[in-house]
Amino acid sequence: MASTTGITDELKHLREKIRTLLHETKAILLAHNYQRPEVQDIADLCADSLELSIKASQTDAEVIVFCGVHFMAETASILCPDKKVLLPVSDAGCPMADMITANDLRKKREEIPDVVVISYVNTTAEVKAETDICCTSANVIQVANSVDPSRQIFMTPDKNLAQYAIEHTDRNIMYWEGFCPVHNNLTVEQVREAKSAHPEALFLAHPECPPEVLELADEVKSTSGMIAYAGNSESREFIIGTEIGILHPLSKANPDKFFFPADPGMICSDMKKIGLREILTALENLQPEVKVPKEIRERAKGAVDRMLAIPSE
Ligand code: 13P
Ligand code: SF4
Repeated sequence: MASTTGITDELKHLREKIRTLLHETKAILLAHNYQRPEVQDIADLCADSLELSIKASQTDAEVIVFCGVHFMAETASILCPDKKVLLPVSDAGCPMADMITANDLRKKREEIPDVVVISYVNTTAEVKAETDICCTSANVIQVANSVDPSRQIFMTPDKNLAQYAIEHTDRNIMYWEGFCPVHNNLTVEQVREAKSAHPEALFLAHPECPPEVLELADEVKSTSGMIAYAGNSESREFIIGTEIGILHPLSKANPDKFFFPADPGMICSDMKKIGLREILTALENLQPEVKVPKEIRERAKGAVDRMLAIPSE
């Protein structure tokens, strides 16, 4: 009993200290939908990559505490060079973002003359600096459609997102063979099993899943797209084809609905690295900071700005 109360009190104390320091340092706390529940619950905004980028570009806070992975904090630094961007655990990365380098992309540009490069926001700042326009899972179709139909497109780094764009646009798209290790492992068999266990449920999938899995989906959505869709849907049951951290905001926003993971093993270990203690330490020391060097930032910003200028659905 004492320990249960102790844990609760400790959590409460940590939360209060974090909120006080956020206020004192004029900081905002942004969290991705895959973060641990206790991190999501203390955030000023918990959202998908697109919404987090928009918020970072608009906030008047002096410090941004980014609870997500490295490319997300870099994107905030690209958009807000005068703000301090903190990533409470500096080695929280995205394995997919590391599957292509700026040098790889420069070589591709030499191979395919006059190509338009679309990079998923899950890329390093160096790769964004070699990119024409970025996209996220929420706006990939609108971004691809914004390109002149006569031009050849090259998409990086996610082959599954690219194949989804090929399926849903009439653009000429070549792509890099990268993938998200968490989403790419979801199989047709696992989805079929989940469907037979929950025959009334709709299947919502993230576009990072393989094409054969997306074929079984009732809807393909970004993480925040899934939350909005479930909220507006008449259905009460959903099978969720993305990282299981999303189950927390889904259930919180829809307490009367039921959400079942397509595969309970879909866990992004990098997205779980940040806890309340790491946030507190980051706020106390105002580090670890993520700062994109000026020369890279200025080139990368064009690609992010062009994406943000496109109205989303
Ligand atoms: P969203 O932009 O849909 O939240 O996805 C980010 C991500 O990393 C998915 O794996
Ligand atoms: Fe990267 Fe996949 Fe983790 Fe998203 S879930 S951060 S794409 S490794």
